[in-house]
Amino acid sequence: MSAAWWQWGVVYQVYPRSFQDTNGDGIGDLAGIEQHLDYLADLGVDALWISPMYPSPMADFGYDVADYCEVDPRFGTLADFDRLLSAAHARGLKIILDYVPNHTSNRHPWFLESRSARTSPKRDWYLWRDAAPGGGPPNNWISDFGGPAWTWDEATGQYYAHAFLKEQPDLNWRNPEVQRAMFDVLRFWFARGVDGFRIDVLWHIFKAADFRDNPPNPDYRPGRGEMHRVLQTCSTDQPEVHGVIAEMRRIADRFGARVLIGEVCLPLERSMRYYGTDGEGIHLPFNFRLVDATPAQWTAAGLADLVGAYEAALPEGAWPNWVLGSHDAPRIAARRGDAQARVAAMLLLTLRGTPTLYQGDELAIGAVHVPAASVQDPRELREPGLGLGRDPSRTPMAWNAEGHAGFSSALPWLPLHDDWPTRNVARMWADRESTLSLYRRLLALRRAYPALSRGEWSLLPVQGDVLGYVRGHGAQRLVVALNLGATPQSFTLPAWAASARVLLSTVPGDPSPPSSTTLHLRPDEGLILAPSLEA
Ligand code: NOJ
Ligand code: CA
Repeated sequence: MSAAWWQWGVVYQVYPRSFQDTNGDGIGDLAGIEQHLDYLADLGVDALWISPMYPSPMADFGYDVADYCEVDPRFGTLADFDRLLSAAHARGLKIILDYVPNHTSNRHPWFLESRSARTSPKRDWYLWRDAAPGGGPPNNWISDFGGPAWTWDEATGQYYAHAFLKEQPDLNWRNPEVQRAMFDVLRFWFARGVDGFRIDVLWHIFKAADFRDNPPNPDYRPGRGEMHRVLQTCSTDQPEVHGVIAEMRRIADRFGARVLIGEVCLPLERSMRYYGTDGEGIHLPFNFRLVDATPAQWTAAGLADLVGAYEAALPEGAWPNWVLGSHDAPRIAARRGDAQARVAAMLLLTLRGTPTLYQGDELAIGAVHVPAASVQDPRELREPGLGLGRDPSRTPMAWNAEGHAGFSSALPWLPLHDDWPTRNVARMWADRESTLSLYRRLLALRRAYPALSRGEWSLLPVQGDVLGYVRGHGAQRLVVALNLGATPQSFTLPAWAASARVLLSTVPGDPSPPSSTTLHLRPDEGLILAPSLEA
């Protein structure tokens, strides 16, 4: 099977504010990304997804875009971007940008014009509505960050819709001019050589044309965020989105070998529709299943169900993808602890499908405490104390044991993790047993074994705390066995894998070699094994 780069490759998410600062303002920048391209190439990833670096008032740290075709001066210039892109390409690394189509900044010139008068030619570029008959917002939609999804504009006497902050007004994708302008943004960056886009909240861009109320959520429990009071039945995931996606796909295909990865947070069956039919969907609807897995699901039986259900739901010809974390979710090491974070790394990089790795997870950065006075995330500021804040997973990378961990010469915009003097790239790169070295070795194995990067996947029966599966490509077959528990376990291998050789363990020290078909796993141990014939 000839696979595309976005199928066999590994994506690494860069959160630019927190990657590397080069000009001493405590905020990462594009030159900082360029500085570490060798690190990323040596680590063994294939593509970088860079979170928004466009001009922005930073109400939502770049997800409020004021100009889609420029670079924020805090991050650099378009020339810096072009340099980064060619330096990445020179190392065989692809660049994927974040595309934010649902909303702009309230300071985008389009919105300034739209709000200037009811008669503005751009009035209909956004979602303006009169107040409800008795006064108040036009319907019951709630912002994902809490509070009504509508803000009153005194000057023109109407409400505008925003799925997120009031500083992020929603575009009207039913307006053909909006579509044209936003498709031009894709062309602008593709023509510059960008290899793909991660599309922000893709399932949000169309809302029900009649703006009817969302139904109440019968399972709502306070404490999980006010947005969950209602089901987003009418404010998201409307059928019209697929027509627009088809056009985005046509544009990408015309440039060739580009990828569209869509953020889609929906129940399994509905998210699968975003693959589309006949090559008219996005290449990869981002798969949040491992990010959202509850502790009860993070067991051998639970993960077997989760992965099995996802594989079974994939439409014909669709390629899977897997993710452990992002700038929006608590880090994997914070969720599962250090030892299981290593097992999770092996899971991520041995399942079938494109993995996305979030910066800093290769260091297993854990739960970073961000003191109340240092909180930056508007999500936390709006609904404090519920554990919804995203700052703890956005703290800076730690490169070495100097100054501010080599991230910046100045105080970073968010605090570093406490153990940065030892949990940093320089130190962990030199330590063969570190989580960073584990990631490096896993990535090297993916390169060496097509069975891992593009092979078939089949589940073995769960045994105790052990999740086992086989990856196969042509004559090459590998077994992966993951002990999801903290006690020793044994696992019976299929007969064809008797006396298999251990290629890699997540646990330092020598794994016990399988005796015939019996495998002994240490607590929290993940193993990749090759049948002896593969040796
Ligand atoms: C999803 C992004 O990942 C998140 O960081 C942002 O706040 C929202 N979309 C709104 O753009
Ligand atoms: Ca900087």
